[in-house]
Amino acid sequence: MTAKDATAAKGIFVNNRWSPAASGRTLPVIAPAEGSTFTQIAAGDTEDVNRAVAAARAALETGAWGRLTATERGRLLTRLAQKVADHAEDLALTEARDTGKPMKQARNDMIATARYFEYFGGAADKAHGESIPFLNGYFAFTERVPHGVTGHIIPWNYPAQMFGRTIAPALAMGNAVVMKPAEDACLTPLRLAALAAEAGFPEGALNIVTGLGEEAGAALSSHRDIDFLSFTGSPEVGTLIQTAAARNHIGCTLELGGKSPHVIFADADLDFAIPVIANTMVQNAGQTCSAGSRVIIERAIFDKVAALLAERFALLTAGTPEMDLELGPVINAAQKRRIEGFFERAERDRIPVLGEGKIAPGVPKNAFFVAPRVYGPAPRDHELSCKEVFGPVLTLLTFEDEADAVRLANATDYGLMAAVWSTNGGRALRVARRIKAGQVYVNAFGAGGGIELPFGGMKKSGHGREKGFAALHDMSQLRTTIIKHD
Ligand code: NAI
Ligand code: MG
Repeated sequence: MTAKDATAAKGIFVNNRWSPAASGRTLPVIAPAEGSTFTQIAAGDTEDVNRAVAAARAALETGAWGRLTATERGRLLTRLAQKVADHAEDLALTEARDTGKPMKQARNDMIATARYFEYFGGAADKAHGESIPFLNGYFAFTERVPHGVTGHIIPWNYPAQMFGRTIAPALAMGNAVVMKPAEDACLTPLRLAALAAEAGFPEGALNIVTGLGEEAGAALSSHRDIDFLSFTGSPEVGTLIQTAAARNHIGCTLELGGKSPHVIFADADLDFAIPVIANTMVQNAGQTCSAGSRVIIERAIFDKVAALLAERFALLTAGTPEMDLELGPVINAAQKRRIEGFFERAERDRIPVLGEGKIAPGVPKNAFFVAPRVYGPAPRDHELSCKEVFGPVLTLLTFEDEADAVRLANATDYGLMAAVWSTNGGRALRVARRIKAGQVYVNAFGAGGGIELPFGGMKKSGHGREKGFAALHDMSQLRTTIIKHD
């Protein structure tokens, strides 16, 4: 299959069937590495969302989906995992064209996507409740029951992985789901939905409405018949989602990005740390919520670390998916402009550029490429030290001692991830435990890896947990039943 065949768009997916948007409108889909439109998606709105939510509700209340046992749901998820693995190459082609990412990364993303369905397929019938000692003559137990109809709004950076991350645990727990993928990249979620139908998911279990955030997204998040919302994206839209959830008195999971620190002590193993830090920063052209975008370095080794990272960045080249280099373009013209705005203000404020990568010769002129950069030392209150750039941009800062390192690591609004690099085990653990972040690595870093590992934000990075068994808890609610038997 060629990239062209793999990216033929399909429409809105409700009750395992495709249809155009009720309004008949479509939206252009742009290939970031080409800078031009290559297909159209349906521009769904309130009417399409209403139809999808009604289908999900019916699947639960009267359809086959609501009657399946947990084991049966798990089997369907496992079957979908196999289908994703079987179709990994054409899914990767689709993802690469839609997002611009290098093929090797798109291939890795499909392995992770399959793994979400494998993991949550196995977990579906293992999320059980407990019995609780209570008064004489009573028996009390808890069970995990689905929220009901769950609404999922995902971003464009990892469409396939995000689909797996949020949908797999929701289906494992028996929710019926309606997803609104991002208008900038949503082709793999559509293809995954088709594979789910092939795997045997009954109609209405999984529905997808494509469209604009302010239309389809707003309609979904404010729908009165949604029981829970899951959102990953910008803090600004996160506020809108939580406000919509509050109006309907429902819960939500928010994952709103980060400015995750690497803390490097003078005794760190730099041979191992430096390539990990550089590679995870430019993964997905830096458009990763969990990117480690601040490097906090003990003063004594600042110059050494800066030189090593500068050298490393100079070797990085951005290219098209087929060139398969270290990074691809960013998602669209607005994101490129946003990153260039950071560059302009850094220049105005005289923050030194320590190292810069390249853009491969021969990439299309209209494509959205940005050469990766490493800046430093930056003042602690500069936007490069506190704001999420969402591009291949690394900021270096210095610290004086352990207490200062902790203070600086915690000195942003965010709290998604962190890493501590030190060969002094006691100190590494001590510092790791004082960092306010949902995930903290010691002498390692995985931007987004680990389906088994609970993941999510502290502070303004959001709330709720995805991945691991924690996701099954968030995607369900606890019912306590009390029986008087004497
Ligand atoms: P966004 O937050 O607007 O988009 C995320 C999702 O929310 C998309 O599906 C979008 O259609 C939807 N959405 C937008 N407006 C909505 C509304 N009013 N109601 C309901 N849903 C809505 O993010 P955007 O504009 O694509 O990127 C802007 C910035 O956000 C990026 O530069 C980056 O800094 C950050 N971002 C963070 C992500 C993360 O993984 N934490 C992912 C994407 C963006
Ligand atoms: Mg937006």
